[in-house]
Amino acid sequence: MTDTITIRRPDDWHVHLRDGAMLEAVAPFTARQFARAIIMPNLSPPVTSASRAAAYRERIMAALPENADFTPLMTCYLTDDADADDIVAGHADGIFTAAKLYPANATTNSAHGVTDVAHIMPVLERMQDIGMPLLVHGEVTDGSIDIFDREAVFIERVLAKLIAALPELKIVFEHITTEQAVQFVDSAGPNIAATITPHHLHINRNAMFAGGMRPHAYCLPVAKREQHRLALRKAAISGSRKYFLGTDSAPHEVHAKESACGCAGIFNAPYALESYATVFDEEDALDRLEGFASVYGPQFYGLPLNEDRVTLKRGSLAVPDSLETADSTLVPFHAGAELIWRIAQS
Ligand code: DOR
Ligand code: ZN
Repeated sequence: MTDTITIRRPDDWHVHLRDGAMLEAVAPFTARQFARAIIMPNLSPPVTSASRAAAYRERIMAALPENADFTPLMTCYLTDDADADDIVAGHADGIFTAAKLYPANATTNSAHGVTDVAHIMPVLERMQDIGMPLLVHGEVTDGSIDIFDREAVFIERVLAKLIAALPELKIVFEHITTEQAVQFVDSAGPNIAATITPHHLHINRNAMFAGGMRPHAYCLPVAKREQHRLALRKAAISGSRKYFLGTDSAPHEVHAKESACGCAGIFNAPYALESYATVFDEEDALDRLEGFASVYGPQFYGLPLNEDRVTLKRGSLAVPDSLETADSTLVPFHAGAELIWRIAQS
């Protein structure tokens, strides 16, 4: 049995670091585990321009501990009237790594998102030309579609057509949750990849209703049936370069989660790597963790691999029920449970 593994330091290809006091509270958790992270732009107001992204990057850097070795990779929040020139210039200047497509009203702070992909086709054509990745929240927002079907329907109605129209566009299908998404990504070209969260590898939809309503298991896209969780596990451990780590860590204060209308999002940043390692161990695939966590992401984005290493050791890790930060209480993923891997102190 393997009791210790050492891998290249990983990156998180999808995280919500928020702003203000919440940013100060959560950024150190991500910086402790990851060398780089793709920062989601769904602030209020959203990060829709290169100047806003540059200012947000400064605020992130200011929120990090003194000795942190962490690079935030910024994204542009696409709206119906996204400015292609600003996005292309922001990419050339090293401010924007990618742009994010939120279908309008699909999730937290997405009211300014795109109402119809047709509106942003000129922007996407420019992105295709310069090799700038499009990151996609893949759910239709049509209220007549069952919430558990919204990802599968998005593939048919939006994603397949988008890829047919722009076959060279680099696309990351973010936080996939279904076997349909796995099949779609598997059968698409090498310019189509996907991120997978730790929570969608650990829980299925029953977790939201285990003995009562469990708001801390609620996120978007919502967790699906067990068959889908198993398909995601298979994809994550497959060794395919199309699948890589993206936590979608999305903190909300405890009162916003435990509410009559609780916010979507699971805060997994504090123990993300331990959570993934536990899955890979359960699947007897620890030898594939490094590819998923530290290699395929940078390769897709055309970035160098990290040279630092991190060591994980087998051993019980008790996850606290909650974490007190300066201004708030946050409930981490796996609260009150035990993980079987821990990061060795360097
Ligand atoms: O669960 C989620 N939370 N899904 C998202 O797409 C957004 C995120 C957030 O920002 O809270
Ligand atoms: Zn997200």
